[in-house]
Amino acid sequence: MKKILLLIIFSFTMSFSQTYRDPNANIEDRIHDLLSKMTLEEKIGQMQQKNLDEMNENVLAEVKAGKVGSFLNAGNIQNIISLQKAALNSRLGIPLIIGRDVIHGYKTVLPIPLAQAATWNPELVRKGAEIAAIEAKEEGINWTFSPMLDISRDPRWGRIAESLGEDPYLSSVLGVAMIEGFQGKSLNSKNSIAACGKHYVGYGATEGGRDYNTTLIPESELRNIYLKPFQAVSENGIATFMSAFNDLNGVPTSANSFTLKTILRDEWKFDGFVVSDWGAISELIPHGFAKDGKEAAYKAINAGVNMEMVSQHYAYNLRNLINEGKVDINWIDKMVGDILRIKFKLGLFENPLPQIPEESTILSDFHKQIAKESAIESMVLLQNTDNFLPLKSDIKSVAIIGSLADSQIDQMGCWNVEGKAKDVITPLSAIKSEFGDNIQINYCKGYENPRSSSKDYFEKAKQIVEKSDAAIVFVGEDYLLTGESHSRAFINLPGIQEDLVLELAKTNKPIVLVILSGRPLTFGSLTNAVKSILFSWHPGTMSGPAISDILFGKVSPSGKLPVTFPRSEGQIPLYYNHKNTGRPPADNQLGRKIGTPENPDGFASYYLDVDFTPAYYFGFGLSYTKFVYSDLQLSRNVITNDDKIDVSVKVTNSGNFEAKETVQLYIRDLVGSLTRPVKELKGFKKINLKPGESQIVRFEISVHDLKFYDINMNYVAEPGEFHLFVGSSSNKYDLLQAKFELK
Ligand code: GLC
Repeated sequence: MKKILLLIIFSFTMSFSQTYRDPNANIEDRIHDLLSKMTLEEKIGQMQQKNLDEMNENVLAEVKAGKVGSFLNAGNIQNIISLQKAALNSRLGIPLIIGRDVIHGYKTVLPIPLAQAATWNPELVRKGAEIAAIEAKEEGINWTFSPMLDISRDPRWGRIAESLGEDPYLSSVLGVAMIEGFQGKSLNSKNSIAACGKHYVGYGATEGGRDYNTTLIPESELRNIYLKPFQAVSENGIATFMSAFNDLNGVPTSANSFTLKTILRDEWKFDGFVVSDWGAISELIPHGFAKDGKEAAYKAINAGVNMEMVSQHYAYNLRNLINEGKVDINWIDKMVGDILRIKFKLGLFENPLPQIPEESTILSDFHKQIAKESAIESMVLLQNTDNFLPLKSDIKSVAIIGSLADSQIDQMGCWNVEGKAKDVITPLSAIKSEFGDNIQINYCKGYENPRSSSKDYFEKAKQIVEKSDAAIVFVGEDYLLTGESHSRAFINLPGIQEDLVLELAKTNKPIVLVILSGRPLTFGSLTNAVKSILFSWHPGTMSGPAISDILFGKVSPSGKLPVTFPRSEGQIPLYYNHKNTGRPPADNQLGRKIGTPENPDGFASYYLDVDFTPAYYFGFGLSYTKFVYSDLQLSRNVITNDDKIDVSVKVTNSGNFEAKETVQLYIRDLVGSLTRPVKELKGFKKINLKPGESQIVRFEISVHDLKFYDINMNYVAEPGEFHLFVGSSSNKYDLLQAKFELK
């Protein structure tokens, strides 16, 4: 009797306790209290993310009825306020989390993520994410679907533009920098928004570079390469992940309990939540992994996808699946609890409505300065014959050729969802306003648009170049040639751009090529026709001032490639941290043009018709000065498990231009229980040196840096000999070498 009385009193007090509304209560208690009050419908409602197609009474009624936990693409701040107020008027008043693709800046558009990776500057990447969060939060967004952490080794894949490149270490360091920028020190800070590590996992290995395609990744490769950046952000407090579209080894990632439960929850102890990618739960059906929506819901929820983006299989099927005993209500509580945990951490229960600042931060001078710095540091000087750049003072007239020089929208690149073209400063306008007073600027479109096959402008362009001292030719991709579902089988310059450059070269005037692109391209036929090549990616709002400052020598380029540039699509996949194979090609086994008389010699892993080497190496980038590396020293050459090696190298700016340099450290594990890559990036430092200045750059290597997942999936460092390299790129001719032994 007494027990029953106590139970009645307990449940009576519980039903009126407001622990979940107490900001001082422990978050886990708040979750537990709120779950105890929620109906099954309300729990399922939290797992539904809807796209706001249009604002109307039905949508508001659904929210008020507790059927929606989140929106994406909610449009303007008025919509968000209306939706949030409807949520606050629901029975339990659980606020919405509002998501948006804030991928590279918000209204101040930053360089695309692949370009930001080329800065090798974590602090600058963090600042970029921070200003993006400030602008997005001002307009009611409290969750971004960024950073994209897919390791990308295939430039045919349009989404390589959104990635941080081919290397797990660089992607990890920069991915962590991005979430620190988005999430700040604490998720409930005024300027913080929740980040989202995507697309979990292996999406970048999509077959043939065709988007949404099959990925086959052995577990050792999955853990040693593709999972690394996700593990890094998980260990650094990322709030959410997004499950991907791809089929991973036969199990789609949006219903893959190995990656979503065994790795993400059991091993990494991740306690945020996972949202599916757009309709990815529905796509389990065409994948042939679910026969209908009910089975799709059953497989996705039991694998650990907390929230369904846009499709509604959870809403339609979870109640039945629970009643049929196929889904455990305790698992539902766990899935919903993870969502509530992030909403509590974001402080949404205390501050559900956007706090509009007195003075808008959007497109502030400070934000544009960060965007410009990011653009400048992202640009990679690939060639500079005769040190032609920066343009010298004896140049009194410049031909600017190419409609890309004057196209505002194309500077922004893919996945720009909020930026306005009208806010972009183009290269043509920047050069005119900055230098138009003291040099003659002659402009010609050169091509109608980047993909045009018409040569109508060739003659006019040629005339303009003829009458100028030098030509700056803008070539590359428009903003639509990369991004989701925009893969290309050929990665050459689109349209007739190559013909145009070769035609202009006949004038024998010096040509500078500025390439705007969302991916590595092939342009080998042009390297002998031009003096300099500045690879500028898609630089964002401040594209023009950044390109202008570099071309005219206000600042030296310092970007380094975060991804390998192949000579030909035929070489793909081509990446620096490859295995050695049993027959590595010798330096002299370079490919020859098909049909040459010589009989190609030797039996090794190379091509008959193209050099096996890349056009440009991972980590490569020139400067307006020269950096000399010397005195590579190791504090010890033999280490045991708890030792560290202090590595030092002297870097000297031997030229006459102040510039930044990214000093890179690689190792090679010569023999392993699994074959090991010929090189692995384990450290980098970006330094600034004045002419003549030297600096001793220091790194620390510990046994932890030597670990990898072995054939039994143990994370181990194996005894044996290691090589260590330090230099300016992953090209062996740019590296000093030393060795050490792990006992
Ligand atoms: C898209 C993309 C994903 C994006 C999401 C929401 O399909 O795959 O990267 O965040 O849908 O727009």
